[in-house]
Amino acid sequence: MANKKTGFFSHQTLEKNIGWMIIASILVVSFAGLVQIVPLFFQHSTTQPVAGVEPYSPLRLMGRDVYIREGCVGCHSQQVRVLAAEVQRYGPYSTAAESVFDHPFLWGSKRTGPDLARVGERYSDDWHRIHLRDPRKLVPESNMPAYPWLQKTVITGENVAERMRALRMLGVPYTDQQIADAPKAIEGKTEEDALVEYLQSLGVGVRKAKQAAEAKQAAEAKKAEEAKKAEDAKKAEDAKQAADTAAPAATAPAAQSALQPAAQAATGG
Ligand code: HEC
Repeated sequence: MANKKTGFFSHQTLEKNIGWMIIASILVVSFAGLVQIVPLFFQHSTTQPVAGVEPYSPLRLMGRDVYIREGCVGCHSQQVRVLAAEVQRYGPYSTAAESVFDHPFLWGSKRTGPDLARVGERYSDDWHRIHLRDPRKLVPESNMPAYPWLQKTVITGENVAERMRALRMLGVPYTDQQIADAPKAIEGKTEEDALVEYLQSLGVGVRKAKQAAEAKQAAEAKKAEEAKKAEDAKKAEDAKQAADTAAPAATAPAAQSALQPAAQAATGG
């Protein structure tokens, strides 16, 4: 084997030459990556917002920026993974379509604290305020830092419109009106107000949209069932009448069995 002549495009070239090995590895990995990743750019389920996901309101947007500035993402993820334990602890797993308005996304990769993707409306606003000012007051063993200055820092809203315009360039559908009204909407608010508003929105839109859809489905199912019941009752009524006219002597038993459509066939009604 060893003294057999081999061409340039042989395994030996790769195995004996680290430079070619690296180049070939990069080619293989890039191609595999492209095949796996590029289709996602064009898939609706990853590029279109799912029901209930809306662009951030100005206050939430500012709160999100506080979240980024304070490095909350260093200890908190915002992605519930597709594992039974996670779903039981946090709620429905996260989907890509929930993050289409997030630039940058804050999925995170480190969980010193719990995941926050579904934390919205789990606690009261007051709970969050106390917790942000001093986590140990509510969770004695917590090692989360305190952020007491947020309550004292009033948001300077002059650049919120620019932020929204920048996001619009990235595809977030803010209207001119929304952008024009934004500075007013956050007037006099503190960074704590904004952050709490942001936290309270996490996962809520999607949950409510899902609940509304389920309620609608249940209502439709109920309506269909009622319609079927009414139809059955009418059939039974018709059968009773038919039995009454056909055999007046057997009125009593026929009336009884007519209430049960299955039994009605047996009486020949
Ligand atoms: C050093 C890591 C660390 C940082 C940074 C951090 N946290 Fe936490 N966080 C924790 C830990 C640990 C807990 C669990 C104990 C507790 O509730 O305090 C927690 C809990 C929470 C909870 C309650 C979650 C739940 O489901 O009970 C919220 C909300 C929260 N953090 C928000 C924030 C925000 C907002 C920031 C940024 C301003 C932040 N955290 C920064 C570690 C951190």
